[in-house]
Formats: sequence, structure tokens, C-alpha cells
Amino acid sequence: MTNTTPKDAVPRHVAIVMDGNGRWAKARYLPRLMGHHRGVEAARKVIRVCSGAGVECLTLFAFSSENWRRPEEEVSGLMSLFMSALERESAALFRHNVRLCFIGDRSGFSASLQEKILQVEALTASCSGMRLLIAANYGGRWDILQAVRTLANQINSGDLDANKLDETMFGQFLSTDGMPEPDLFIRTGGEKRISNFLMWQLAYAELYFTDVLWPEFDEQCLRDAFRDFASRQRRFGMTGEQVSGGKHA
Ligand code: IPE
Ligand code: IPE
Ligand code: MG
Repeated sequence: MTNTTPKDAVPRHVAIVMDGNGRWAKARYLPRLMGHHRGVEAARKVIRVCSGAGVECLTLFAFSSENWRRPEEEVSGLMSLFMSALERESAALFRHNVRLCFIGDRSGFSASLQEKILQVEALTASCSGMRLLIAANYGGRWDILQAVRTLANQINSGDLDANKLDETMFGQFLSTDGMPEPDLFIRTGGEKRISNFLMWQLAYAELYFTDVLWPEFDEQCLRDAFRDFASRQRRFGMTGEQVSGGKHA
């Protein structure tokens, strides 16, 4: 892999809505599932490039809490695909020192898929390289609600003082605990929406939308997104002069 991106231009946390698999397949008169298969290949490439570029955390939206609404054939095909992708890729993730974690309500998955997820998480638990978060049966609202539920229980039992709760503490109850907030949000497939991805965590992410359909999103597309990210001025509420260290802050 040729790493042509300067180090400071690389986001610490990249979060991607991998959208457009179905349309990619449809345009080729293929079943939608073929698009998802090709989507796994695209994900594998992006994982490799991000890990090589020094990204600390990559979050991939693989299945939303709303995707159960799809035809049963597509849902079961996706479940089989997750299973086989985990079986096939776990050794390579370990070799590349990538630590994999699932975020989302895993209780919605079959016992065998839950077991596989635990296995791969355990296998890569000691990996110290990039963190790979796979958002599956994930919803941003679910994440906030499960945090509130745990918090409410701790407040009820007297373990936590509600008046001491602040944003940092709240973040520790979310499924992304321990990760830096996403710096760069990428959505492929042309739609310009969040679709219930990381609702709390994306507060200050730079948003990048591309019409490229996910199966065709390659290393060059990712480098383009990084380059675009590097050209943004992140102000976090301050003035441009403050951020650039200019005199007129
Ligand atoms: C994203 O691709 C993958 C999942 C939601 C699992 P889509 O399947 O949503 O592709 P389009 O949007 O129909 O093209
Ligand atoms: C978002 O894509 C979820 C994933 C990529 C897994 P969708 O294709 O499900 O989003 P909507 O339905 O177009 O908003
Ligand atoms: Mg879609």
C-alpha cells in the first residue's frame, strides 16, 4: 500500500455509512445480496487502508436497527454473510493487529452469530492497533437510551449523583466508550442523512458525502475523503482566527 497521506491529515476516528450495495447490484441485474457480498470486499480494503494510514478507530455501519424491516430473504442473507465474513476474516484481523468490537443490540442476533461475535472479539482483544467497531443492529437512539437506562438505575440505587453527570461521563455509558469522537463521517451511495447512526457522537464530525456506491469505494475514494477532511477548518465554536492562531482572535 502506498501511503501518500500526511500523518496530520489522517482523522483519528472515521465513521462510515456503507450505503449503495443494493443499487450497485440492481444496476447489474444482480440480486441485492451480491451487492452486499461485494460490500464486504470494499470493507476489507477500507479496513486495511485505514489501519495502514494510522487511523485509531474505524466504525462501520453494517446493519441498522431499522434494517430488520427489509424482506426476510435479504435479512437472512445478511446474517449468513456476517457469519461467513467473521469466520473468514478473523485471522487476518488478528495478523494486522486490529481489535474488533461489535456495537449495537446483539441480543437481536441468533445464538450462533452472538457466539461468533464473542469469539472474534476475544481473539483480537489483545490487539493494540486500530480499533474496528462494527455497528450491527445499531441505532443512535438505542445507544442513547441504553445509556440513560443504565444511568437511571445507578442514580436510583444511589451509586451516582445526577447533579454530577456531565457530557464526558455520559459518553462513558455509550457503546463507543473509550474511543475518540468521530472526526470524519463518510456516507457513500448519494443519500445525505445520518439514518440513526452515531447520534450523540457525531456532534462535531466533519461530514463527507459521495455518490460512489459502497462496493466501488476503493483506496482512492478514501484518500479523496481524507484530503477533503484535511482541507477543513474545525472551529468547535471558536473563530477561524482563534483556531489558526491568528492575531485577531
Ligand atoms: C447498505 O446498502 C447496506 C445495508 C444497509 C446492510 P443498501 O442495501 O442500503 O443499498 P441501497 O441503498 O439499497 O442501494
Ligand atoms: C443505513 O443505510 C444503514 C447501513 C448502511 C447499515 P440504509 O440504506 O438502511 O439507510 P436509509 O434507509 O436509506 O436511511
Ligand atoms: Mg441504503
